[in-house]
Amino acid sequence: MFKPPVALQAAKALSRRSRPAAFAAPPRPSASNTFFHPLSYTTPRAKDEKKDAEASADVEGGFARTDESVVFEYPDDAQMPRTPVVQGRGGMHFKRTLAQFSLENKVSLVTGGARGLGLVMSQALVASGSDLAIVDLNRKEAEEQAQKLVEQFKKENPGLEQLPNVTAHYADVANPDSVNNAIAEVISKHGRIDHLVTSAGFTENFDAISYPYDRMQKLWGVNVDGTYLFATGVAKHLMERKAPGSIVMIGSMSGAIVNVPQPQAPYNASKAAVRHLAASLAVEWAPHDIRVNCISPGYMLTALTRKILDERPDLRDKWTSLIPVGKMGTPEDLMGAVTFLLSDASKYITGADLRVDGGYTLT
Ligand SMILES: NC(=O)c1ccc[n+]([C@@H]2O[C@H](COP(=O)([O-])OP(=O)(O)OC[C@H]3O[C@@H](n4cnc5c(N)ncnc54)[C@H](O)[C@@H]3O)[C@@H](O)[C@H]2O)c1
Repeated sequence: MFKPPVALQAAKALSRRSRPAAFAAPPRPSASNTFFHPLSYTTPRAKDEKKDAEASADVEGGFARTDESVVFEYPDDAQMPRTPVVQGRGGMHFKRTLAQFSLENKVSLVTGGARGLGLVMSQALVASGSDLAIVDLNRKEAEEQAQKLVEQFKKENPGLEQLPNVTAHYADVANPDSVNNAIAEVISKHGRIDHLVTSAGFTENFDAISYPYDRMQKLWGVNVDGTYLFATGVAKHLMERKAPGSIVMIGSMSGAIVNVPQPQAPYNASKAAVRHLAASLAVEWAPHDIRVNCISPGYMLTALTRKILDERPDLRDKWTSLIPVGKMGTPEDLMGAVTFLLSDASKYITGADLRVDGGYTLT
């Protein structure tokens, strides 16, 4: 997956080799000049990528730079790993908790719910009492997962008479007609929509100069337009019904910080847009009793990130070394956060960005 565009990398290597002497590294401080050496000096990129990585510890700012050798193109659908339905988290329990956290008698729509974080958050909503519409580009997988999700729920809640109504629907979130059709289909199957979670989105790694423009447009189309189209479509429906509602947009900590070492400027910008879209719509729709919040996950271990780390195990150490809690999150870590923000437990919270990142953005 991490295939550098060969021609481009070769051209870059050549251009680096021909850098003028003026770009040569300044002399490293020695014992005799330590006292006088400047606090900072500009270090050019190392000529050798491998040495570059090895040298990063010795170079000022070395741990805080992007590395253009990290290239990741979002895989074709057929190559995407499947997400197993979470087991052992959806059962009835008899521990006392606030009734406000319940989503009973609600209908929730989750975009990108066939896989990854969207699927696990979908399970959290069903476990909390909601009916569910999974909306995804991949209709077949959405249908299979909807079925598995109900089977798992039945297993974990034996004897329960009323089962959740879980349906699967197709939409390309970046396409306005497709979004409108999906919303109409969900309303026809469930009667209404009360809650929305926008999880459809993807990331890619290219250095900014190399990012193919059409891919960048696609990325922003799904991550930004897709979030906007679903939010406005569901809000319009809520306003027509004069009903309260809650929307949770899945942003990313990348909307607030710049990840290293993988370069991903357009993704970071798209997630900053999602975060501020949530804040802006929260203000605009507050008079309609529609709350809009954002969840910004940090590095989560999904089937996709596992696949990336299998191919680039060096990234795991780099990532985890920057997370105060010392480990990546799991999709299950979002179950409580999304339930809280959709439920009445967060009735007075709108426009917030809830970072679920193990403290990454604090340091
Ligand atoms: N995994 C992480 O570490 C992480 C961290 C921070 C933020 N996020 C964000 O969380 C969200 C979910 O990520 P994930 O890791 O679960 O990804 P994923 O690839 O496992 O799942 C994304 C789902 O969205 C669907 N999708 C993609 N394009 C679509 C489109 N145009 N229309 C409808 N559905 C579409 C896919 O089919 C898939 O089911 C994304 O917005 C991502 O940016 C993920």
